Amino acid sequence: MLDPQAYRDAMSEIASPVHLIATDGPAGIAGMTVTALASISDHPPTLLVCVNRNSPSAARFLENAVFSVNSLGAEDQQLADIFAGRTNEHFAQKFSHGSWRKGLTGSPLLENALASFDCRLIDVKDVGTHHILIGRVETVARRDQGPSLLYHRRGYHRSMD
Ligand SMILES: Cc1cc2nc3c(=O)[nH]c(=O)nc-3n(C[C@H](O)[C@H](O)[C@H](O)COP(=O)(O)O)c2cc1C
Repeated sequence: MLDPQAYRDAMSEIASPVHLIATDGPAGIAGMTVTALASISDHPPTLLVCVNRNSPSAARFLENAVFSVNSLGAEDQQLADIFAGRTNEHFAQKFSHGSWRKGLTGSPLLENALASFDCRLIDVKDVGTHHILIGRVETVARRDQGPSLLYHRRGYHRSMD
């Protein structure tokens, strides 16, 4: 098997936009920073995110069966650190940072995101250490201006405008 560290090092060469995913419902509120996002199709609008099964937030995403994806602008590096657990805040504490409103599904949506996608969970696949959450997108919102926050070689960067 390829050495996982060699795999991670090669992956660190790929610049990725940074997103916050968020959920709320019977299992409680939760949010985390992710780069593992992909669009699956536009008809019907469907996307996927990969969530580590060991994350304390993971169960809430599965049980609530709704989630949002909020793509961060370059100015929101601090939010990325908070939602990655780097400031030791958890669950509702994280949402005291940033301006949030409730979406159609009940998931929190970040007001200042470059783009937000409000999703219903339609399927989950378990692969290795991660859940792949597949979401049907019910509504979108977009800001239409400003550079994107990127993660590249283990640091934050801004995209060109
Ligand atoms: C730039 C960046 C990208 C990340 N991408 C992912 C990801 O795609 N999937 C994932 O499960 N965790 C990812 N993480 C780690 C999670 O954000 C972190 O483990 C989690 O939010 C911890 O919060 P919790 O303990 O409250 O669940 C990423 C972290 C950073 C800083």
